[in-house]
Amino acid sequence: MLQLGLVLCCLTFAASIPDPRQREALIQLESSMQTGGQMVLTDAEQELDAHFFKMKQEEMARAAFPPAVHFFRARDLIRRSPIFSLLQEMPKGGALHVHDFSMVDVDWLVMNATYRPHCYMCCTDNQSIRFIFSSRRPKPLPRCSPWTLLEELRAKMVNSTDLDSSIKQNLTLFTEQDPEEAYPSQDVVWDRFEQTFAAVWGLVTYAPVFRDYFYQGLTQFYLDNVMYLELRALLPEVYELDGSAHDRAWTLKTYRDVTEQFKNQHPDFFGARIIFTVNRGVNLSVMTEVVEEAMKLQRSFPDTLAGFDLVGREDSGRPLWYFREALSLPAERGIELPFFFHAGETDLEGTDVDQNLLDALLLNTSRIGHGFALVRHPVAKDLSRKRGVAVEVCPVSNQVLKLVKDLRNHPAAALMSENHPVVISSDDPALFGASGLSYDFYEAFVGLGGIKSNIASLKQLAINSFRYSSLNPKQKIEALVLWQRRWNKFVSEHV
Ligand SMILES: *[C@@H]1O[C@H](CO)[C@@H](O)[C@H](O)[C@H]1NC(C)=O
Ligand SMILES: *[C@@H]1O[C@H](CO)[C@@H](O)[C@H](O)[C@H]1NC(C)=O
Ligand SMILES: *[C@@H]1O[C@H](CO)[C@@H](O)[C@H](O)[C@H]1NC(C)=O
Ligand SMILES: *[C@@H]1O[C@H](CO)[C@@H](O)[C@H](O)[C@H]1NC(C)=O
Ligand SMILES: *[C@@H]1O[C@H](CO)[C@@H](O)[C@H](O)[C@H]1NC(C)=O
Ligand SMILES: *[C@@H]1O[C@H](CO)[C@@H](O)[C@H](O)[C@H]1NC(C)=O
Ligand SMILES: [Zn+2]
Repeated sequence: MLQLGLVLCCLTFAASIPDPRQREALIQLESSMQTGGQMVLTDAEQELDAHFFKMKQEEMARAAFPPAVHFFRARDLIRRSPIFSLLQEMPKGGALHVHDFSMVDVDWLVMNATYRPHCYMCCTDNQSIRFIFSSRRPKPLPRCSPWTLLEELRAKMVNSTDLDSSIKQNLTLFTEQDPEEAYPSQDVVWDRFEQTFAAVWGLVTYAPVFRDYFYQGLTQFYLDNVMYLELRALLPEVYELDGSAHDRAWTLKTYRDVTEQFKNQHPDFFGARIIFTVNRGVNLSVMTEVVEEAMKLQRSFPDTLAGFDLVGREDSGRPLWYFREALSLPAERGIELPFFFHAGETDLEGTDVDQNLLDALLLNTSRIGHGFALVRHPVAKDLSRKRGVAVEVCPVSNQVLKLVKDLRNHPAAALMSENHPVVISSDDPALFGASGLSYDFYEAFVGLGGIKSNIASLKQLAINSFRYSSLNPKQKIEALVLWQRRWNKFVSEHV
């Protein structure tokens, strides 16, 4: 590799046209620093790379460049992109930042879950909806219309297409409307985010749906050529038709069992692990109890539970520092409970919220969820690099939640240009009208990466997804071997 010092000291500053060889050396130096810049490619990979390069040039020459357009409008453009088709087939490794109840597209929720017997729905006084499955008529909810049994309602209708599509719209942020009009501010989009979440809740926490939903989620990621998942999960009490509820251990055990079942049926799928999450709106005493429980669950399910995190909008929730006593308990007791904190998903520069990034690192986080604000924190950025604390970059999420409009301006573009430890993930694909991981890979590769990111960058991102995963060293090697086999097949099939 060229050394920066070497190149610079050879620069001559004569008053003439700069030496083209020096210029070429500097260009080479820069490309060698980007994500994948050190990767040595096989002949077949180079051939496929030339193909990618050509496609990218054509994509950039088009009038509407998808990464510059809001995802709701760009989705159709992306679906027609030949780069996207190739990325769908590409083995992408693992998805390390995905949330439990936004894994599966809402079509499945409506056409499968709400068509099951005993499904009741009510409309809240601010035009959202709630669901519950129950063997007898449930007690009314405050600020919600009387419960209607969907089976009866649909039976009375000639055609339930409109009902189904209005339910669908309640379960996702995606809209055919102008997204700027529908969501004029971060507050509006986050409000809808929370309403959507509440609407989905009664469907997905019903035990039979809970199991099938997770299985379906694994299926959708698997079909998108993702072979490993780290799922952030609230581990709620899951309920049965008679109103009885299971505890957190049951929920975690169910994740483990469904994963095993899925692996048996799909031997080239590597598995899934769970990051237990709690909403950052809780107070210190609740957090303390939850951390205690997390330590207990970690002991009972060491292979399934990867660690712990806080969720919910950072701007309106409590900062990590508020919870420092609770979050220090594992270290004080010498118990290993790895953290995977969301931090820096904000543009509130300089506030207590903005402090989360440094605090996450002080609390020894294993990765950083989003880290959108990282480039404004040189110390945090340096620590993240030196300690190999990878940033989980979720481009579609950041755009829909209004941190950035044009993904070419996403701060992680700078991180990728210097091979900062990053992984690409999809956060809440169903809420954004996406699915699996390919849309985010597309935005990262075409939008963040620009023309210079290449097949080596893609390969590096896939490898990073194992390297920075919570798997133990032996599992990492196994997963990489499995991935490499699929990668070679992908490359040879496409040259
Ligand atoms: C929902 O999906 C499950 C699992 O794939 C399937 O067994 C069931 O028949 C489906 N139910 C409906 C109503 O589509
Ligand atoms: C809608 O009502 C729910 C309670 O039913 C409340 O939590 C929520 O904040 C309300 N949302 C808006 C946008 O008014
Ligand atoms: C139901 O209604 C939708 C639009 O409201 C229409 O597109 C669809 O063809 C109808 N289906 C049937 C079976 O009539
Ligand atoms: C949610 O569903 C209700 C009832 O079907 C409907 O009135 C409302 O418009 C829907 N909300 C959205 C955001 O689509
Ligand atoms: C913390 O929150 C819980 C649940 O909302 C509540 O019961 C408890 O009183 C709160 N504790 C303090 C100290 O505020
Ligand atoms: C973080 O790691 C440092 C160094 O290993 C240790 O001293 C400290 O107690 C840890 N803190 C937490 C909260 O885990
Ligand atoms: Zn998230």
